[in-house]
Amino acid sequence: MADQGTGSGTDVEKYDAAVPTGTGIVTSDRIENPGFEPVRLRVSELDPKKDKANERRVALMFGLSMIGSAGAIAAYIIFPIVPGDPGSVRTNTFLLGLGLALGLFGIGFGAVHWAKSLMDGHDLVEFRHGTRGSDATRAKAAEVFHLGNKESGIGRRHLIRNTLIGALVFFPLPGIVVFRDLAPAADPNQLLKFTMWKKGTRLTKDPSGVPIKASDVTLGSVFHVIPDGLNDLPDKLEQKAKAAVLLMRLKPEDLHVSKGRESWNYQGIIAYSKICTHVGCPVALYEQQTHHLLCPCHQSTFDITHEAEVIFGPANRPLPQLPITIDSEGYLVAQSDFHEPVGPSFWERKH
Ligand code: FES
Repeated sequence: MADQGTGSGTDVEKYDAAVPTGTGIVTSDRIENPGFEPVRLRVSELDPKKDKANERRVALMFGLSMIGSAGAIAAYIIFPIVPGDPGSVRTNTFLLGLGLALGLFGIGFGAVHWAKSLMDGHDLVEFRHGTRGSDATRAKAAEVFHLGNKESGIGRRHLIRNTLIGALVFFPLPGIVVFRDLAPAADPNQLLKFTMWKKGTRLTKDPSGVPIKASDVTLGSVFHVIPDGLNDLPDKLEQKAKAAVLLMRLKPEDLHVSKGRESWNYQGIIAYSKICTHVGCPVALYEQQTHHLLCPCHQSTFDITHEAEVIFGPANRPLPQLPITIDSEGYLVAQSDFHEPVGPSFWERKH
């Protein structure tokens, strides 16, 4: 409908004339009940008992919304995700989703049912105005607001108002709780400090799991290594993300070994964590001539002749070294776990 300014005058007259059965009430800027069809009263307007029943139904839906939101939080706590157990992931996700769905649909259905069954129903045609209304229009807006307040009954239907407020307060809570998953584990330092390497664990080829003999490692060669038995674990990917190692052989005289680490290599065969100390990408490139290890993510470069110290890039500590030796059959084995946490050095900044 065309902008008709203050709403009085010809547009209103034209509109009124265009409604043959019009019984509408024409005010300065709107026409109520323009007469397209007779307005039917709602059952709740005819019967106070039905009015009360509908009110309870709306409150029930808002109440169900609160239960759903609270249930989502409870499910998240009672049925946590257990690492390596896909069943726990399914249960946690299903119950969390169920609670959130109930929380959202409870508010939605409650609001729709409220509008359909309890608020006044009548046709209303309004004329389009400029962006900013006149003072009279603004006063009218306040009047409409008060009318809406009166018609919705939010001021006097305390049960609905309070349960709606409760539902809206409860609904965002599961979202806050699930943000917990973005936070680090209770003690990430501990999580990264220990891997599945321990005394006597054989070094095996990744991904075959074939044990490696010292005699297999020729000068200049590089092996991608995982601990023996890793492939049998249900959480092997998680374990591999911490325990993956690069194995190389240099001439023993090329190695600059610090005090206390003299026995950590076996005749020039050395093993370093493959997890970059910058942000954890796998260090995968070995420059045989320079004895440099390169991380492809942000080009951190580690010099393995100097215990993998950082010579370029954003990493700020060397790759942790895995102490190795051989067993009675000549296979390479770990002497122990790493002596420091693997992976991003972020965790070390606290110490
Ligand atoms: S993760 Fe290796 S340099 Fe950034």
